[in-house]
Amino acid sequence: MFSHWYNRTLNKIWGFVEDRTSMKKWALRPQPDFTFKPSYWTGAFVVNAFLYQVISGALLLLYYQPSTAPTLTACGQVAGTFSTAPAAWCSTYYIINSVPMGSLLLSSHLYGAYAMIFLMFVHFFRGYYVGVYKAPREFSWMVGTLLMLTTLGMGFTGYLLPYTQLSLNATNVGIVLALRLPTFGPLLGPFILADGTSQGLLSRMFDAHVLLIPVALGALLYAHIALFESHGIAPPATSDPLQRRRFTEKEDKKHVPFMPHIFFYITKWGLLYVGVLFGIAALWPWQLTAYAGNVAAAGIVTEPDWYFLWLFKLVDFTGVTPVIAVAVTTVLMLYVLFLPFLDRSKRTHPRDRPLFIWIATSLLGFFIMMTVWGGETPGVQIAPMQVASTIGPIFLVNGLVTALFHLRYRRSYARRLAARSVPYSGAYPSPGSVPSGSVGAAEASSSE
Ligand code: HEM
Repeated sequence: MFSHWYNRTLNKIWGFVEDRTSMKKWALRPQPDFTFKPSYWTGAFVVNAFLYQVISGALLLLYYQPSTAPTLTACGQVAGTFSTAPAAWCSTYYIINSVPMGSLLLSSHLYGAYAMIFLMFVHFFRGYYVGVYKAPREFSWMVGTLLMLTTLGMGFTGYLLPYTQLSLNATNVGIVLALRLPTFGPLLGPFILADGTSQGLLSRMFDAHVLLIPVALGALLYAHIALFESHGIAPPATSDPLQRRRFTEKEDKKHVPFMPHIFFYITKWGLLYVGVLFGIAALWPWQLTAYAGNVAAAGIVTEPDWYFLWLFKLVDFTGVTPVIAVAVTTVLMLYVLFLPFLDRSKRTHPRDRPLFIWIATSLLGFFIMMTVWGGETPGVQIAPMQVASTIGPIFLVNGLVTALFHLRYRRSYARRLAARSVPYSGAYPSPGSVPSGSVGAAEASSSE
């Protein structure tokens, strides 16, 4: 009785809000109801993380001072102890020690950055494995690649802001690499270095971190979501009519409105995200290391955040100059950007794309291994033989496993095709008569 009344009242309120806001006209399009699974909304989780960064960053701005000038006041009561500390470091110290909940705010912003980058990689690799870059989503993928670069740019520019000796050293290494970028390097130089003073560098990093890159990220995100809106969500890789489990017409037709269903679903995950982030930040608050110029920081080992460790380790390999490291990074980025035009087959299922799956899995293994290696032995030179014996097996073993898996699968795949060529009553044309663009056709029907 009560629940009946409760539901009716809620429906009435919602109906009123929907009517007065004309929500149906501007909300994102409805999506098939099988998308109520986290794997379909990995991009939305990155958006949640980004929103938290914007809010927590805006609060940090209330206290942070982007200045390298020594200060006697910004550190709060213990000013005398840090009379030569730059204001940027001192204001960070003040946020941690004197602002109510400041440590939680700063730590959750920093860990939030790690989480956003991690979630972005999850979104990227998930998309790669299930082939979401295939037609008609090539541009979604390319805009996504630019989003990846801007997100990493956010991480890079934010690293300097506490102005510790560690962050200054790592930023300098990053700048040396950035300046060697073909074409863009010389253009970026004057912009990053400003007048060549430490204040000039900090100001430029600050501007980029709080204004330029967030605006670029917001604009790219708008384009990314507009493209997503026009194509609809990518159907599962199993929607390929030649797969065992097909994306049926029934599944395709059952849609749920974005507002409120999908929106609340994503919000629920967003709230869980903030809860976990707060928990981690409260249990393991971030520690501020010695400020730039402090004699206590003289012998400090230069180390970037985890997502750039692989690149730092690459420069430690004997014979790898910054130019080579930048060339490797550029080739990798170009590969990712143009992937939709390199993998031209119509098949989306990982089992049908052995070459590209081998590349993805090997690169994933390579990045994980390099990141751990970089964290364990930062700045330690590595001889060519050791490089070959550590990295070689990743590519070889992956190649072997992918090849065996593909060969094993091809036989069962052929058997299934043969079995189906007689009677077939599925939602899609029989496998024997599937034209080459059939996956695209299945997608087109799912995105109507
Ligand atoms: C800041 C980083 C990024 C954000 C905030 C973001 C956000 C989103 C959102 C909200 C969606 C809608 C579906 C979903 O929630 O998964 C999406 C879809 C998509 N994203 Fe991203 N993305 C980012 C980075 C990337 C990257 C690095 C790539 C690949 C290079 C990429 C490629 C795609 C593609 C192809 C789709 C369509 C997939 C589908 O329809 O299921 N995105 N993204």
